[in-house]
Amino acid sequence: MMRSPASESPSVQNHMFSYLISGGIPLEGAVKVSGAKNSALKLMAASLLTSDKTVLHNVPMIQDVLTMADVLRELGAEVSFSGDRMEIDPSGELSHTAPYELVRRMRASIIVMGPLLARLGEARVAMPGGCNIGPRKIDFHLAGLEKLGARIEVDHGFINIAADRLTGDVISLSYPSVGATENVMMAAVMARGRTVIESAAREPEIIDLAKFLTSMGACISGAGSDTIVIDGVDELAGATHTVVPDRIEAGTYMVAAAVTRGDVTVQNINPLHLEIFISKLRAIGVHVKEFDHKVCCRGEGRYSGTDIATLPYPGFPTDLQAPIMVLLSLARGHSIVTENVFENRFVFVDEMNRLGGHIRTSGHHAVVHGESRFDGAIVEAPDLRAGAALVLAGLAAAGTTEVRRIGHIDRGYENFEQKLQALGADIQRVETRDRKHRAGTLS
Ligand code: UD1
Repeated sequence: MMRSPASESPSVQNHMFSYLISGGIPLEGAVKVSGAKNSALKLMAASLLTSDKTVLHNVPMIQDVLTMADVLRELGAEVSFSGDRMEIDPSGELSHTAPYELVRRMRASIIVMGPLLARLGEARVAMPGGCNIGPRKIDFHLAGLEKLGARIEVDHGFINIAADRLTGDVISLSYPSVGATENVMMAAVMARGRTVIESAAREPEIIDLAKFLTSMGACISGAGSDTIVIDGVDELAGATHTVVPDRIEAGTYMVAAAVTRGDVTVQNINPLHLEIFISKLRAIGVHVKEFDHKVCCRGEGRYSGTDIATLPYPGFPTDLQAPIMVLLSLARGHSIVTENVFENRFVFVDEMNRLGGHIRTSGHHAVVHGESRFDGAIVEAPDLRAGAALVLAGLAAAGTTEVRRIGHIDRGYENFEQKLQALGADIQRVETRDRKHRAGTLS
């Protein structure tokens, strides 16, 4: 059975656990990156497209994967784990309803819309609620599915989608949305005729999904470019697939090496997936050596600030925007960071400033004043990547930092504290003490 960070929902965990970090230790050694969260979740959803068993390897043991397993079980599939191997058996009778409780827990649950529509001809999926990194609409998903012939209605907080038989068409996305590209791909694989997705997202996770669907018998070309062509087939079969490495987890450990002035080898990755990120690290002054499946990252000398703008792949990843701000805070001069992908993705800045950062925001720009000296304090993780960034700041800080609400971090980082401890970090998961003392400073 899969080991989980904790079996409670993230909202319960948030109130229970914190990380206590004694900073200032240079991280050293090697860390193995897990399979990509943002691919595994979609591959799990794609397994609903067949009634055969599917086997996934290199599945990360994280809370979001557990939530997606609950979604699949709720829909009628059997899901079992053994280490990083997951087996999904959707041969029983499937339900077409993804309930609010699960979609609320994890917005990515809406990715089952496309597969359910393709397999059952209908899907009823709770509308995702607000999200603390912006409104995150799903209009591109729905417009794409509608173009394939689906009828869409909204009632009592649910989206009802139905189609007698989906028919391929040209779908030109107004923005290369990752989720919309994936939902449309999964709906189109069994549609009648050819679907062309223009302005498609180009992320490595899209290529991974296309590879998996192809091994199930789908006919897809162009994944990784901005035009994906799908020729519908009558049915798909089970397949075995290994999840692509998590480039965001890899980037997080690279920043951890840099901010602690350490020397870390990040293994089991494809450095080509991080080209722009690595070039920015080098511009800042971090020593990065690339190999086929690993990078060595060494932090020494003085760092210099640089400007960064997040963009869809192959641009600088929005999910590494918060972590890189920690590094920029330690660099000479000031840096301007522009967030182009999500609204409200600077919500962690106040917490960073409580640790001693000097960051000012204006709309989707942030000015990071460098040469900050982080000092341990109590902070709260507002979301997954910002939570990881606060841990990175804690690793670089003098004294003790307490990062609260780490249920957010459990959503996406497998064995986070164990992997950091193996690199020499002093980080412990502890029960959160009385929240009334939140304003105090530890040391
Ligand atoms: C995925 C990733 C997330 C990553 C993001 C961008 C998963 C589970 N999550 O999220 O970690 O940060 O890609 O790389 O894979 N938008 C609309 N309408 C839509 C769809 C999107 O307006 O129908 C907007 C969103 O609000 C956002 C932007 O487009 O501002 C990008 O969203 P999208 O690429 O769809 O990201 P996700 O798939 O949600």
